[in-house]
Amino acid sequence: MLGRVCGIVGYLGHRSALDVVLQGLGRLEYRGYDSAGIALLDGDGSLAVQRSAGALSNLEQRVAEDGREHFVGTGGMGHTRWATHGAPTDRNAHPHRDSTGKVAVVHNGIIENFAELRAELENDGIELSSDTDSEVVAHLVGRAYAAGPAAGDLTAALGIVAARLSGAFTLVVTHADQHDKIVAARRSSPLVVGVGEGETFVASDVAAFIEHTRNAVELGQDQLVTITRDGYLVTDFAGTEVETRPFSVDWDLSAAEKGGHDYFMLKEIEEQPEALSNTLRGHFADGGVVLDEQRISEQDLRDINKVFVVACGTAYHSGLLAKYAIEHWCRIPVEVELASEFRYRDPVLGRDTLVVAISQSGETADTLEAVRHARTQHARVLAISNTNGSQIPRESDAVLYTHAGPEIGVAATKTFLAQIAANYLVGLALAQARGTKYTDELEHEFAELAAMPDAVRSVLETVPQVRELATRMCDAKAVLFLGRHVGYPVALEGALKLKELAYMHAEGFAAGELKHGPIALIEDGLPVVVQMPSLKGHSQLHAKLLSNIREIQARGARTIVIAEEGDEAVRPFADELIEIPAVPTLLQPLVSTVPLQVLAAEIARHRGYDVDKPRNLAKSVTVE
Ligand code: M6R
Repeated sequence: MLGRVCGIVGYLGHRSALDVVLQGLGRLEYRGYDSAGIALLDGDGSLAVQRSAGALSNLEQRVAEDGREHFVGTGGMGHTRWATHGAPTDRNAHPHRDSTGKVAVVHNGIIENFAELRAELENDGIELSSDTDSEVVAHLVGRAYAAGPAAGDLTAALGIVAARLSGAFTLVVTHADQHDKIVAARRSSPLVVGVGEGETFVASDVAAFIEHTRNAVELGQDQLVTITRDGYLVTDFAGTEVETRPFSVDWDLSAAEKGGHDYFMLKEIEEQPEALSNTLRGHFADGGVVLDEQRISEQDLRDINKVFVVACGTAYHSGLLAKYAIEHWCRIPVEVELASEFRYRDPVLGRDTLVVAISQSGETADTLEAVRHARTQHARVLAISNTNGSQIPRESDAVLYTHAGPEIGVAATKTFLAQIAANYLVGLALAQARGTKYTDELEHEFAELAAMPDAVRSVLETVPQVRELATRMCDAKAVLFLGRHVGYPVALEGALKLKELAYMHAEGFAAGELKHGPIALIEDGLPVVVQMPSLKGHSQLHAKLLSNIREIQARGARTIVIAEEGDEAVRPFADELIEIPAVPTLLQPLVSTVPLQVLAAEIARHRGYDVDKPRNLAKSVTVE
């Protein structure tokens, strides 16, 4: 199946569309960088199109070679692509056009019935020029616009076509004869409208237009929007006007720029104290937890007797931490599942089950499908997401937004810490509903959480030490990460970061499991990163981990130990010691993860890789 996670931007206004669209694509490149393309409405009945395989800079070079004078006009659209299947070539790059060359389409998602639509077009003698599923839309819209009930009406033509499509899509369509109008449609894929003064935008993400306007409108499922320079109209696919949800973006351009850092990820690592504060702000008031959206009754919350946490990748690691907090505080059994596995094993779900779906983007297909499955089984779903109005929150019964701000680096950093904090807030909300904690205990737990931004600020002081350490680790054959209790998910996260950024073999293990097999991997000089549990909070585990370190050191491992300040017991066994502030056990991951993020990013940088755009990855994965 062809499919993609892509960035889309469309613009109608008074500025050079070339500049606005290229700039918008630059901010969306985190969504995919396999190819890029633009189609501009030059106002005299033709489209100026250019496309190129590879990064956006390749497209910019082609535009420069053609000459900017070929790309005039104040309306147009662009696309940056991440291919799951099908070659990332020029011919598969968007925009795609119909046979007349007048209709251009950009698409994010998968058109599942494209094969039958393609066959229908080919039977009618239409020749397609790419291997994509998207091109069929250009031809279908072209036909609907040329004749029939939607003749001459681009909005109606897209509505008719969108209703025939199955799968997930954001589509933006332009017609060379309609230079005052751009039409877009969405199903299960993101699309927001930006409303400025005499200019209007459509994009996959507000980052594409944030420097021009903070006024945005989110589109619902199966909706169409027609933008003009003066406004927008949202309808369903049949053309009936629908109510919209305008919102104001609460972050500004500086949040989407590198701000003097070598790469976005380092900036985002350093933003973690603020991201945590923003996640916590306003979510605890009058002795209780406040969610952003709450459509589960107090009684239903009280009746919850089982919690499933579903998520992928880094969000899954944050979910593993939720289990420790929720079971401890609420005495409810919690299972944490990879979203991609969840629905395929027929989990036991019902009205008294709460499914917590964690997703930074709010659009990860695996997590979305897990949510949908849970809802068919009548479970309640609570979403934790960083993206306002994205699909997973929209399909959930309750939502807690992390408010961590935009995360441009493909590797999750500040949103991981924000997710941990949000998970703990959910734990406190459940404890409150079930009465397993008194108000003063809830307040105490929240106060400890609220102190964490300062603790993270102080752990950032280790950045220079970790950067230097990275220079000595970049030639390692492999790296192992060990932890116990809450240190175990941190070990998994440290290994994931190193794999995805530095393309190095890395594994995270529960330190107690080492002796059951993985210890055979230890050889002379192998770097092993160890998370020490809190000495005061977990003295028993601390002693056990000390023994584990001795065992690996005896076999030649080079130990890099992350331990609380003042942990003198571990010092003799640490070839490298990174000290973190002493914090309550459940909160330790908020500080101990930070050096691991820096380590992975810096090793990647020394190995010459693009830290923000690791190979083969994209920020949101909207394919299963
Ligand atoms: O948007 P989501 O939180 O649903 O994304 C889940 C994973 O794809 C994501 O965390 C991924 O593992 C990151 N690249 C890790 O850095």
